[in-house]
Amino acid sequence: MTRGRFITLEGGEGVGKSTQLRALTAAIAARGVEVVATREPGGSAGAEAIRGLLMEGSDDRWDARSEALLFAAARADHVARTIRPALDRGAWVLCDRFVDSSRAYQGGGGGITDVDLLALHGFGSQGLLPDRTFLLTLQADEAAERLAVRDAGGADRMGSKPADYQTRLAARFLEMAAAEPDRWRIVDAGKPAEAVTDAIMSQLESWL
Ligand SMILES: Nc1ncnc2c1ncn2[C@@H]1O[C@H](COP(=O)(O)OP(=O)(O)OP(=O)(O)O)[C@@H](O)[C@H]1O
Ligand SMILES: [Mg+2]
Repeated sequence: MTRGRFITLEGGEGVGKSTQLRALTAAIAARGVEVVATREPGGSAGAEAIRGLLMEGSDDRWDARSEALLFAAARADHVARTIRPALDRGAWVLCDRFVDSSRAYQGGGGGITDVDLLALHGFGSQGLLPDRTFLLTLQADEAAERLAVRDAGGADRMGSKPADYQTRLAARFLEMAAAEPDRWRIVDAGKPAEAVTDAIMSQLESWL
């Protein structure tokens, strides 16, 4: 039995990660491959419990180091209980955000070094990295418009950061992608959702 493929979707808020995750899951499953669709923080019982601690409450609920540890702990449980078992049985795992989001958010905005974040990932998740990471890129104003429509009821703790933070975040994602070009692919998320799905699927074709 061959190990499954581990694919992550990354990018700022409102770029369409969750929309694409759903569409890709259906498209890959239609090819007869078992797909596990999951997300971070969360994706296992323990990690979903930690997700509640991370997503609810005021912006300053956690200091940067505690927050980085909580994300790493949630990810460790997610990897141990959900992701590795699925890959080992040959399933593909599609994950909405993974360690790179910690590197962009806790590193870029929170002041924790990338070396420290990767050390936490090394211990917690034995350094597991995706086989392929798609970075969805979108103009900040377009992402904000999409979010305004979707979140008429109000954003969560992670989605309430200011505009300059979003700009730094986008730059940090592009920097990570440039540093590891074998793993990352940059996707124009400004097109209609179906066209974005097709663009990603065409890049997965050789694995199907
Ligand atoms: N290609 C697209 N064109 C237009 N609208 C889109 C597109 N993709 C997604 N949307 C819409 O934009 C909104 C945000 O999409 P989605 O929730 O998938 O983004 P996200 O990246 O998962 O956001 P978050 O970071 O907040 O989880 C949704 O209302 C969705 O229907
Ligand atoms: Mg989402």
